Amino acid sequence: MLELRTVEPGEWSLWRELRLSALAEAPYAFGSTLAEWQGSGDREERWRARLSIPGAHDLVALLDGRPVGMASGVPGEADSVELISMWVTPAARGRGVGDHLIWAVERWGQRRGARTLRLSVLPNNDRAAALYERHGFADTGELGDLLPDSVRRERVMAKSLATV
Ligand SMILES: CC(C)(COP(=O)(O)OP(=O)(O)OC[C@H]1O[C@@H](n2cnc3c(N)ncnc32)[C@H](O)[C@@H]1OP(=O)(O)O)[C@@H](O)C(=O)NCCC(=O)NCCS
Repeated sequence: MLELRTVEPGEWSLWRELRLSALAEAPYAFGSTLAEWQGSGDREERWRARLSIPGAHDLVALLDGRPVGMASGVPGEADSVELISMWVTPAARGRGVGDHLIWAVERWGQRRGARTLRLSVLPNNDRAAALYERHGFADTGELGDLLPDSVRRERVMAKSLATV
């Protein structure tokens, strides 16, 4: 059984466990790196701060009670919200966990009255981009953040929340 639940700052160790697994398993997918969140970067107050972004919606997916995925919705500019930190553990992929995380963030955005859900996806992350396209996200044409190679940029995608 799949269950999604919100994570409070006091549950930072659950979020930490998933996020460190995500950064280790899928470095091609995230702007943040494992190195930034390990060692001196791996501090309780930092994880608590990540889970204390005002107005944010931090979600963990549990499959038969075991944590298998994560995603956050965070307030964006104007009337938009943003989907970030999306990851599903490899063993649980292809079973719709990603779909449910996206739907949950969409519902949260609608409840907030947001008109647009935005996200950034790294170039070559074709599986994630295909999932987002299937959910109705399209390229905005905006220049995304520059990657460390100073050449490539993140791909900015958006979806109207008025139609879901
Ligand atoms: C992108 C991601 C979140 C999708 O999660 P998911 O729970 O597998 O999503 P879905 O179950 O909806 O499946 C997504 C696609 O992968 C396919 N898939 C099937 N089996 C799979 C498997 N064993 N492993 C990976 N993907 C599989 C699905 O068929 C589906 O394709 P479709 O859209 O053509 O039907 C997950 O692959 C992931 O965590 N990737 C690494 C991190 C990442 O890229 N995050 C996004 C950052 S922008």
